[in-house]
Amino acid sequence: MSDGEPVTTGRSGATVVRTAGAYRKESATDDLLGEAARLTWLRAQGIPAAEVLECGRGLLVTAEVPGRPADAGWPPDARDRVVDALAELTRTLHALPVAGCPFRRRLAATIPAALAADVHLDDLDDDRRGWSRDRLVSELLATRPVGEDLVVCHGDLTTQNVLIDPETLTVTGLVDAGRLGVADRWLDLAIATRELTDDLGADAAARYLRGCGVEPDPAKQAFYRLLDEFF
Ligand SMILES: Nc1ncnc2c1ncn2[C@@H]1O[C@H](COP(=O)(O)OP(=O)(O)OP(=O)(O)O)[C@@H](O)[C@H]1O
Ligand SMILES: [Mg+2]
Repeated sequence: MSDGEPVTTGRSGATVVRTAGAYRKESATDDLLGEAARLTWLRAQGIPAAEVLECGRGLLVTAEVPGRPADAGWPPDARDRVVDALAELTRTLHALPVAGCPFRRRLAATIPAALAADVHLDDLDDDRRGWSRDRLVSELLATRPVGEDLVVCHGDLTTQNVLIDPETLTVTGLVDAGRLGVADRWLDLAIATRELTDDLGADAAARYLRGCGVEPDPAKQAFYRLLDEFF
């Protein structure tokens, strides 16, 4: 991608532009100071997150993380290793001590935030296409899991937000950490498996969960994908 070229705008509504050696993110609504604080905290824990070069209200500039997003079209013989690299990163992140993390993303915070959020009803996952906001809310409240298996979660662990070195097929870094916080591990696993299933198929998602050392949990997976519709 050439310098100054806008990166596709995500559903957050932020604009991201690549400049020389850096990515410049601007948003009138996202808490980019909060995102900068989370990226900086992650790096201090030894997790390879993008370095913050500049931040202010509505602006975040990060140093370019080398490599390609994990959703890039990998040759067939590289795919298992990309999945394994994602799993290893997830295990390392989820092994951080929760007591040391100052950011909260538990259901006590995310459910009220979901109820207050504008939902993009034209951008729902296929299984919920055509649902009304009321239906999403009642399903969310009816399927809320009883317990939370708390770890430090990235909060938007899509394959686009993890960069991979195309030579070594190892993770070079993470971006887009604005929703990082202590939450049930399925906050991340539900999103990562959704993306892997879309990009590489159900076998890749199953391989990822094995690599994470986690048994499938269809109820939590469904709930945390539903929760993601609100953000
Ligand atoms: N510092 C960086 N180094 C390399 N790539 C980056 C960097 N920052 C952003 N990107 C690329 O730009 C994409 C968009 O950035 P980011 O995810 O922060 O924006 P966003 O608006 O929150 O996107 P979305 O809503 O789609 O998650 C990322 O998925 C990543 O591929
Ligand atoms: Mg992103």
